[in-house]
Amino acid sequence: MINIKSSREIELMRYAGHINYLTHEEIKKHIKVGVTTEQLDKIAYDFITKNNCVPSCLNYEGYPKSICVSINDEVVHGIPSNRKLKEHDIVSIDLCVGYKGYHSDAARTYIIGDVSKEVEDLVKNTEKALYRGISKVKSGVKIGDISHAIEEFAKKKQLSVVKDLVGHGIGSSIHEEPDVPNFGEEGKGIILKEGMTIAIEPMLNLGTKDVCLTDQDDWVIVTEDGLPSAHFEHTVLVTKDGYEILTGE
Ligand code: MF3
Ligand code: CO
Repeated sequence: MINIKSSREIELMRYAGHINYLTHEEIKKHIKVGVTTEQLDKIAYDFITKNNCVPSCLNYEGYPKSICVSINDEVVHGIPSNRKLKEHDIVSIDLCVGYKGYHSDAARTYIIGDVSKEVEDLVKNTEKALYRGISKVKSGVKIGDISHAIEEFAKKKQLSVVKDLVGHGIGSSIHEEPDVPNFGEEGKGIILKEGMTIAIEPMLNLGTKDVCLTDQDDWVIVTEDGLPSAHFEHTVLVTKDGYEILTGE
């Protein structure tokens, strides 16, 4: 079932989204060579809880930390540890914030120091792909319109689209219906309606689209060829005439 949010629910999600945005801004200040991913996790935990919210990833299906920090070939769900960021890394920060039972989900990828032109383009174009997808959102359009816009843009930039992981509805659970794939056909899938809230999250790779778990843990997902992956995500409210980005500035 796809939930249509009431104005009260939307208000709670706006606050969860705003704190999500501010948490990303706080983390951004500390993204530097030498910082450990666990330090970033603590900054997020402290900031989120200080603002009367909860880090919704913590204990979600047993996930052990407050945020996901995925470096280079790690696509999603990297677990914060004593690993340090270093020059030439790209790092994705993905986090969920809950307020009075309602959630927001957003991700960004940062570049540490100098990277090759192709890695820089991977990151920039993954962010652009997210906005291509968001630009389609409006009451009456189909999920496939978002999916197709993201896939077409990725193709044009010769990036591959991860297919094993998709965006999702979000609200009183982090993951709700519908799925929001980053690939698909225009005019296909369910119709968006005013009051739906969805997380759109392209994960684009420089090499193969194929991803897998490692033998380190049951969480981190990496590219099969070891080439880098970037990830951007926003939680978006469908409105009559378009959209509102709940995790935006
Ligand atoms: N942002 C993540 C997603 O959409 C949420 C992960 S929660 C975690 O999958 F527990 F897996 F970290
Ligand atoms: Co998500």
